[in-house]
Amino acid sequence: MAGREDKDILRSSKDLINQLSVVLRTAQIHDPNNVAVVSAVDRLVSIINTLLSQENIITLELRGEFFYLNDYRIRYSLEYLLNFDFLVREFKKRELGSVIFKLRIVPEDIKIFVKVFTESPYSESPFNTFEEKMTGVKSIEIGRLKKVVEEESFDVRKMVKKTYFNAVSYTKGVINKIKAGEKVHLKKAKRVVETMVDQILEEEQLLLGMTAIKDYDEYTYHHSVNVSILSIALGQRLGLSRKMLTDLGMAALFHDIGKMEIPPEVLNKPTNFTDDEWKIIRMHPVWGIKALLKLKKLDDLTVRSAIVSFEHHMNFDLTGYPKLRNPLELDFFSKIVSFADQYDAMTSARVYSRIPMGPDKALSIIMERAGTQLDPLLFKFFINMVGVFPIGTLVMLSTNDLGIVYESNQLFASRPRVMIIVDNKGNKVKGSVVDLTEKNVKGEYIRSITKTLDPNKYKINLAEYLL
Ligand SMILES: [Fe+2]
Ligand SMILES: [Fe+2]
Repeated sequence: MAGREDKDILRSSKDLINQLSVVLRTAQIHDPNNVAVVSAVDRLVSIINTLLSQENIITLELRGEFFYLNDYRIRYSLEYLLNFDFLVREFKKRELGSVIFKLRIVPEDIKIFVKVFTESPYSESPFNTFEEKMTGVKSIEIGRLKKVVEEESFDVRKMVKKTYFNAVSYTKGVINKIKAGEKVHLKKAKRVVETMVDQILEEEQLLLGMTAIKDYDEYTYHHSVNVSILSIALGQRLGLSRKMLTDLGMAALFHDIGKMEIPPEVLNKPTNFTDDEWKIIRMHPVWGIKALLKLKKLDDLTVRSAIVSFEHHMNFDLTGYPKLRNPLELDFFSKIVSFADQYDAMTSARVYSRIPMGPDKALSIIMERAGTQLDPLLFKFFINMVGVFPIGTLVMLSTNDLGIVYESNQLFASRPRVMIIVDNKGNKVKGSVVDLTEKNVKGEYIRSITKTLDPNKYKINLAEYLL
């Protein structure tokens, strides 16, 4: 997908999805000859015909939750989110899996398609009805929705898992090297972070899901990687470029590098810190800036990472540490990393706080801090990213099943995908993931979240389920 032409096609494929939903949605409310419908159809025809002049055939296919155009996966973009989601649901209702444009089309073809599309869900076998009524249109062919091959999603899961653990072991290696005073090449770190950036652009939910895995013994390394992933995901929502996201991910990965100077007997102390010990802990941002500036090559990225490491506990309202004589505005990256850092720290079991907070509790604390310790504008993007029920939240469903949030739903924040772990008879079960947007024949939701629960009370090991 490197060529410019491919890029153009990917961009027009997003336009195609968007315009197709615009047409279908407009046709739901207006009659076919309404000006809004006619002009939306014209625009769609022109997008399709332009695409057809570049490719001989245009296959728009729904696989799982994603659309593919001639086998290229179309990225979910924020601006088109609503229309994307609408189309996915409407295709599924009709068992419609693909639409193939083979010849130049005219507005009349689309009008027929829209009419059939609108009528078909009410028939008993929607796809057959659809196909029958479309036989007259030679330029458009349709295909039935295929069952998603579970294997495919399994492979993606495996790949994401590999990326995550690679990053953890790389971080471990690099921190130990810096500790030992060895030279470190940040080029390798860049590759590690780039892989995470790419996967967040493609499989955000899966990689975000990995951050719900907390390892008590290897806290520092997991924490660094988690903060990096959460920062990249937040940065993506803020519209940062791939290059900026890589820089941000790097800065986030090294934000706590100064902690290596804290004597292990202090850092790993199981009881509360004394005032003197807190003084030492609070030095880590200063030690961080020093450690990073000591690295061989002082490029822009290293300097920016040093700034983030220095500022990550300062807080938006500068009530944190270190204290400054002359107030300044925090670096944009520092503001992002603060969210990721606080959220991950609260939800992790650490030496001095053995009991991690449930993600929903952590989120409510973050909400309280928005506007004071944390940037209120970024908060809106943050909550949109983790969802009202973040991945890993333990929830009780209306069916009395107990589950953990597995994947959040961008459109219906209160209806994520949930993995059932204890059924309504109290038996431990493993695996089945349910979608809370599912409705029964009467149009009512089959399952809803009734409350969230504290995972510590139930002695539930999230990693066991999420891996
Ligand atoms: Fe820190
Ligand atoms: Fe941290």
